[in-house]
Amino acid sequence: MAACGLDFGTSNSALALPSGQVLPIDPPADEKRLFRSVIFFPEGEPVTHTGAEAIAHYLDDGEGRFLQSIKTWLPSAAFTGTQIRGRVFKLEELVAILLRRVRTRAEEACRHSLTEVVLGRPAVFSTDPALDALAQGRLEQAARLAGFTQIRFLIEPIAAALAYEAQITKDELVLVADFGAGTTDLTLMRLGPERRTRADRRPDVVASTGVYVGGDKFDAAIMKHKLLKHFGAGTTYREMGQRLPIPPHVVNKLLSWHEMAFIRERSTQELIQRMLKTSDNLPAIEALHDLVMHNLGYQLFRAIEAAKVKLSSATETRLKFDDARVKLDVKVTRAEFERFSKPLLDELSACTDRLFAAAAAQGVGEAQVDAVFLTGGSSQIPAVRELFRERFGDARLRSGDAFTSVAEGMGRAARE
Ligand SMILES: Nc1ncnc2c1ncn2[C@@H]1O[C@H](COP(=O)(O)OP(=O)(O)OP(=O)(O)O)[C@@H](O)[C@H]1O
Ligand SMILES: [Mg+2]
Repeated sequence: MAACGLDFGTSNSALALPSGQVLPIDPPADEKRLFRSVIFFPEGEPVTHTGAEAIAHYLDDGEGRFLQSIKTWLPSAAFTGTQIRGRVFKLEELVAILLRRVRTRAEEACRHSLTEVVLGRPAVFSTDPALDALAQGRLEQAARLAGFTQIRFLIEPIAAALAYEAQITKDELVLVADFGAGTTDLTLMRLGPERRTRADRRPDVVASTGVYVGGDKFDAAIMKHKLLKHFGAGTTYREMGQRLPIPPHVVNKLLSWHEMAFIRERSTQELIQRMLKTSDNLPAIEALHDLVMHNLGYQLFRAIEAAKVKLSSATETRLKFDDARVKLDVKVTRAEFERFSKPLLDELSACTDRLFAAAAAQGVGEAQVDAVFLTGGSSQIPAVRELFRERFGDARLRSGDAFTSVAEGMGRAARE
């Protein structure tokens, strides 16, 4: 059998066989069934590293280009490719590098070739239909470049629903909520043993919505509310005889790791040099300088993510970082994390409202929901779970493997 299901995630990818078995595809990783969707092109070497190996090489010797959250560029018409080691890589080629690596690793694990794929896509790549089609078209092209010859798409939360369906013994109306790194996807779907064998499951989907809120934005919230002041936010410097605040465009770029690289352009470098001479908070500008010029953004965001993960089980943690002149030891409590995550939680609520508005148009109401299946790494954030516990009650909440249920469902969908 040559079929499989593949979940190409913003931060993690996974591949499953039609049996639902999720294959080990990243031997050096702690969790071998998860492949980190990152690429590292070391400077001056003709090799390309992916997954856990890419992270190890990048942290070991950061010279080169490190790419992450590549999936989020798929609906961007402005991003067509990037120059690496003197040649332009199209976005499709970058995605193909990851998909090919996943495919060949999986083939080694199951010892047969994999050419047919059910490939995941978020419920909504973009609310603009043209950009949504662009994103899916690029993903399809990438899958072809990666060696898949038959490609079908399935919405990620539907796949998660199919994984949940394998556990149930009676028909249920289920809200599946997949909280990833880039997006949250919600789908209301009829599931059950009777329906499991039907070839076309589209009529079982009552409604589906999605929003660009995921773990990356929760990380950015920690940066914004707890750390920016350590990198110069709120400080002033002297320019032509007057004191000016640090420009917001510089500060805002610190909120995501891949934007940070843009600060290294010459005009900002010159500004940082001026601030180093006249700032009213020199240590903060020195930290900003080293963060940007020593390329410490990835490591800093790893520390932020680790603190966030810690807050899923502890009520407070310390976010520590010590490299060059960036020295942080900041206490973060779960209560404050929840306070500054409120706008994100509100967006998740609004997305759930939109789902049920669409369902109401088909005569289906919230009271009829039998179960709420929470999956995706960010479903482990207590405030996210609480949002759904409050709305639907504890008795209706279900969960499975947060990181592999989408891939498992993709695999099951590849059975037909
Ligand atoms: N214990 C935890 N608590 C909170 N967040 C967590 C935890 N473990 C992982 N995460 C977050 O979960 C996210 C990764 O989840 P997942 O693998 O489901 O995303 P993905 O499938 O790559 O993304 P997407 O589905 O949006 O493309 C990351 O943002 C990570 O920081
Ligand atoms: Mg996902």
